[in-house]
Amino acid sequence: MTLADRLGGLAFGGDYNPEQWDEAVWREDDELMRRAGVNLATVGVFSWALLEPAEGEYDFAWLDDQLDRLHANGVAVDLATPTASPPPWFTLAHPDALPVTADGTRLVHGSRDTYCLVAPAYRDAARRIATALAERYGNHPAVALWHVHNEYLTLCWCDQVAAAFRNWLRRRYDGLDALNEAWGTAFWSQHYTAWDQVLPPRATQWHKNPGQALDFRRFWSDEALAAYREQRDAIRGHSDRLVTTNLMVPAYQNLDLWAFGREVDVVAIDHYPSGPGIDAAADTAFGGDRARSFGGGRPWLLMEQGTNTVYTADRILAKEPGEILRHSLGHLAHGADGTLFFQWRQSRAGAEQWHSAMVPHAGPDSRIHREVVALGSALGRLGELAGSTVRAHAAVLHDSDAWWSMDGDGLPSADLDYRSALARAHRALWNAGVTTDFAHPEHDLSRYRLVLAPALFLLSDAGAANLRRFVAGGGTLLVQYANGVVDDRLHARLGGYPAAPLREALGIRVEEHRPLARDERLVLSDGTHGDCWSESVRLHGAEAVAAYTTGMLAGSPALTRHGRGWYLSTRLDDAGYAALIARLLAAASVEPDLPGLPPGVEAVTRHAEDGRRWHIVLNHTAEPARLPASAHDLLTAGAIHEVRPGGCAVLRSP
Ligand code: GAL
Repeated sequence: MTLADRLGGLAFGGDYNPEQWDEAVWREDDELMRRAGVNLATVGVFSWALLEPAEGEYDFAWLDDQLDRLHANGVAVDLATPTASPPPWFTLAHPDALPVTADGTRLVHGSRDTYCLVAPAYRDAARRIATALAERYGNHPAVALWHVHNEYLTLCWCDQVAAAFRNWLRRRYDGLDALNEAWGTAFWSQHYTAWDQVLPPRATQWHKNPGQALDFRRFWSDEALAAYREQRDAIRGHSDRLVTTNLMVPAYQNLDLWAFGREVDVVAIDHYPSGPGIDAAADTAFGGDRARSFGGGRPWLLMEQGTNTVYTADRILAKEPGEILRHSLGHLAHGADGTLFFQWRQSRAGAEQWHSAMVPHAGPDSRIHREVVALGSALGRLGELAGSTVRAHAAVLHDSDAWWSMDGDGLPSADLDYRSALARAHRALWNAGVTTDFAHPEHDLSRYRLVLAPALFLLSDAGAANLRRFVAGGGTLLVQYANGVVDDRLHARLGGYPAAPLREALGIRVEEHRPLARDERLVLSDGTHGDCWSESVRLHGAEAVAAYTTGMLAGSPALTRHGRGWYLSTRLDDAGYAALIARLLAAASVEPDLPGLPPGVEAVTRHAEDGRRWHIVLNHTAEPARLPASAHDLLTAGAIHEVRPGGCAVLRSP
């Protein structure tokens, strides 16, 4: 049974932390949730200290009351295991389960996420509390979903991690010789002669060994997945409800989200946009398209977003009026079957007291709460969309190994940035109105007409062969600079870049990288500009579409084409990149979901299995947006021919 089936529609609600409040407030919560149409509350994320006040002693009475109360009020529960925030008694009882930073500092409680994910004492405690919760609430009528942990994010470099890392390496490599070979330890006298010499990549004097650093990321992701599976399986022993964990799609990446996508019953992400205005809208699509893709196209759940201000170390972002609805429908457009917030009621005290919520400090008589209520009522009118999916003919390739390969020390340029290249490729398609999937380089790509491959600095042999197959099968492929440079052990490709099968598919050979200085801009023969990076490209069958005009590379190809295989050897300026993407879309016959809309107006189509279709139209501009034809809008329950500035529409397709 899907979540939407269990809820009878789209999910709407948020993190609910009633332990911060008293009975009078709970009564008000009941009424406000009913009025807003809340049907799902995430409970217990940070409740470990209350649920298990001393090791092995549980107190469930308060949670019994909360679940019963929510259930009586028609609100289903997404029940969390509280393992992201162990209580102080845990620290004192298990000091060896506290995290150690790369420079050797052991952290203590007083915040959250203070545990070493690998420490047996932590894993046992996490499994025990998850099991106890599942035994007690596995069949509770309120429980619709299990929320394991909260954002598997933290890393640790302690001795227990070192031991686990070695075990992981022993399984991966057929002996220490193979590890030495893979990590290239012949250089800098790093040769290992015994396993216990091998450490996690702790603080070092200078560049870390790249192979060691990459393997540590892989190891950590596997550990996090194992920790998730342990709790999931403990829960499944007592409950038939769906199990998930809230993934992050932030600016860094500690997890292989493809692997998590295979293990969760429904993909759930938290999303806090990386910028304001149109950038927030583009970032919403970027997050949503990844969430959908990690789940193989299934409907997913937006587990957390903010109603307004989000404070982080380096930015303060607030939502403008109308954005609560527009961002939420943005997630829906990209395939979510519901949208939740962090959190229901803004905390009066504690570490996140200034983080926005569905009921702000000012109370229900506030702009924010009114917009929340309006969203609840809009979602109530969109129930027929539940279970429908999004179809894309274009894909951007995304791989955590490639990401991690570009996080290391000693790269050919400090300005190569995986995430921004990935986001830029997606943004160019989004600007063109095209719906985009993400795919792993080794996935079957045959359903796509256009594939963009930005920033696959690391590309496996299998990935390179897969891309050659895609082009041979008639697909249009754009491979971008610094691609296929190393194999999956981070060993440089010899004889020229990229990997041989890809060189063949593209009809080129890259002989030399020429990273550019920060203020350097090269002019290409078609009038566009390149910055950041350039390459000396030799033609082996391809034709030059544009050439460099200055410097050592003057006259040599910058952009090439070999049948349907395109290669771009520099980072193009925005206009040049947009023009190239437009050309490729035309060549591959990929069209916007709803052609004819002005720039800044987004439209994505959701398809039901029985052939019904809905266009979700989001006007991110300050001008009214005319629709190509008048249509029935589910939000206003009438025919419309334009969408007001900043407004949204959900058009039922005839
Ligand atoms: C999330 C986290 C929440 C809350 C929120 C604030 O990453 O899961 O607990 O801290 O950020 O934006």
